[in-house]
Amino acid sequence: MLIAIGSQGSSPGVSTLALALAGFWPTDAATVVVEADPAGGDMKSWQRVPGEPGLGALATAARHSADPATVFAHASALPGGLNVVTAPEGPDQASAAVQLLARDGAGLLRALSADQAITVLDLGRLDPASSTLDLLAYADLTLIVARPNLAEITRLAARIATIKQYARDPEAVSLVLSGTGYPADAVAESQQTPVLAVLPRDEACAGVLSGSLTMRRGLDRTRLARAARTLGHVVIQRQGALVSANARPVSKEADA
Ligand SMILES: Nc1ncnc2c1ncn2[C@@H]1O[C@H](COP(=O)(O)OP(=O)(O)O)[C@@H](O)[C@H]1O
Ligand SMILES: [Mg+2]
Repeated sequence: MLIAIGSQGSSPGVSTLALALAGFWPTDAATVVVEADPAGGDMKSWQRVPGEPGLGALATAARHSADPATVFAHASALPGGLNVVTAPEGPDQASAAVQLLARDGAGLLRALSADQAITVLDLGRLDPASSTLDLLAYADLTLIVARPNLAEITRLAARIATIKQYARDPEAVSLVLSGTGYPADAVAESQQTPVLAVLPRDEACAGVLSGSLTMRRGLDRTRLARAARTLGHVVIQRQGALVSANARPVSKEADA
């Protein structure tokens, strides 16, 4: 399964969620995070890993290989064991790598979608001019992270239809709210888009994921870890529902 995560800016916690979702995934499927943020990567510095071979090499390899193992071969193992393909820190290199992946990576991205392993793509901010939007077509699900405040919800309202156009299926796009503000059902209603989770503020867990706090025992019992695990279950359910809805013959749909 390929899960894309992005935002409309203002750093609502896309990278943190990508790490939490893959790191606390609720089944024993293998998981990997691919940091494909054209603004430049954070994960290499956060976790002080060498980050080689990383996203640039993966994007190059994707021209010749559609084997999901290629992604794992380009990942670094973080201190907790999570596999992450880190993006170059510089935006020039990072955006070039994302562009290359979008241009030449179709075979690999389709294979990742079909694979048992869970690949979480951190796309950062989904800017109109960046090639991240082109990657949405390959994702089984696209999660848009937003803080439920007036500025972010207004910006999202102006953008959600475009994001759905780029996605594989408009129904594949869902929201994840970060922190408190407007209630989830009001946001879902106003954006005509389901809200799959409301993530708690959790400085302890987020601090470990972003490397500002050292790893500690019991991380998987923190509020953010539990919310990420629950979101994992919801993602699995939603993906299953989308697959069966799309498998339904058109004539039956018309009858229903
Ligand atoms: N649920 C959360 N609780 C507390 N802090 C968070 C949470 N999510 C993210 N953060 C913090 O907010 C900052 C931005 O998060 P980040 O994941 O880098 O956002 P983005 O990838 O959208 O730019 C980081 O310092 C991170 O530790
Ligand atoms: Mg980020």
